[in-house]
Amino acid sequence: MTNATITGWGKAMPPATLSNDDLAKIVKTSDEWITTRTGIKERRISHVDVSDMAAVAAHHALAAAGLVASDLDLIIVCTCTADSTIPSTASRVQEILGATGCAALDLNAACSGFIYGLVVGTNMIKAGTNSKVLIVGAEKLSYHLNFADRSTAVLFGDGAGAVILEATEDDVGVLASELGLDGDARDLLAIEVTGTKGTRQSADPAQSGIVMNGQEVFRRAVTTMGDSAVRVVEESGLSLGDVDLLIPHQANSRIIDATARRLKLEPAKVFVNIGSYGNTSAATIPVAIAEAVEQGRVEPGAVIVFAAFGAGLSWAAAALKWGDRVEPVSTSDAALPTTDKTAMELIQPNIDFFGLA
Ligand code: UT7
Repeated sequence: MTNATITGWGKAMPPATLSNDDLAKIVKTSDEWITTRTGIKERRISHVDVSDMAAVAAHHALAAAGLVASDLDLIIVCTCTADSTIPSTASRVQEILGATGCAALDLNAACSGFIYGLVVGTNMIKAGTNSKVLIVGAEKLSYHLNFADRSTAVLFGDGAGAVILEATEDDVGVLASELGLDGDARDLLAIEVTGTKGTRQSADPAQSGIVMNGQEVFRRAVTTMGDSAVRVVEESGLSLGDVDLLIPHQANSRIIDATARRLKLEPAKVFVNIGSYGNTSAATIPVAIAEAVEQGRVEPGAVIVFAAFGAGLSWAAAALKWGDRVEPVSTSDAALPTTDKTAMELIQPNIDFFGLA
């Protein structure tokens, strides 16, 4: 039976770093509050577009897989912060990579987006429609940060991660998955005014950034991520003791801890990098995959569980068996352009638009 295995991985994190102490200079918050309530210490602020970060991450993933862009037959860019409504961000990624002609689409399931993309890509390969698929999670959430709202402004950051999925006859790849969404709770986490419901020109700035009922999203995320993670392990025919690594969406370290407890996993089996990047939505999991492999946290044949939760309210989980290669076939020197702007300078347009509390 044809399966889909991850053969390449990569990331692109913008260099400008905004620390909790930086934030405390403009927002009524503190490093102590942010660290203890979320686990976040700093986040990256991008000076380039989502497609630029996505393409650099993709170059690294292609090199790790030993492929060139013309080998790809499908590009899925998972993002809720697209460069433009049309054409898609995926079209720009395809153009930058030079993967002319291959199918390309954006997928928006917010923070659950990468797992949605992983499952869609896997099933396209299993169906025989595609054989070499690039899946990118890339976000520029800093564009939407309203620094007058301390309950959201401290949480999010920018970045991109990518994987290559390839067809294989080996018994590896996604073993079981679950995708879901509760549309009746969609107002709990929203950026509404950039769609056709409104524009920034006519909108109240207070409603123009990320608007979130943090406590309610937290409550639902804690139970849903753990429950769905347990279900995909059970559905894959494995037991919780077979799980080698949990790579969860990085929204809040307390949500990660609760998910790990539900899976009865010791901390050594949980990948956490929220301290460095905050919540980069669809990018968190592919960035974490790249870092986990680079850090030797993924063994050949490892059973990895992914779980995520986000706007929609969407959720997703997958149990995956890694293939036999954890070394990159090759490396790429692709990098984002340098910038002499600080993160504080990069967020100034937000402060000009939204104001400060
Ligand atoms: O990835 C997509 C999904 N998103 C999430 O999963 C986010 C889920 N939610 C959360 O992670 C948490 O709810 C937050 C981190 C957003 C908030 O943490 P919390 O422990 O739920 O805090 P809270 O909303 O209950 O607020 C507690 C207090 C409030 O003050 P009072 O009313 O007790 O005086 C807030 O005003 O903390 C205050 N507060 C802050 N204080 C300092 C809220 N944000 C901040 C802040 N700095 N940045």
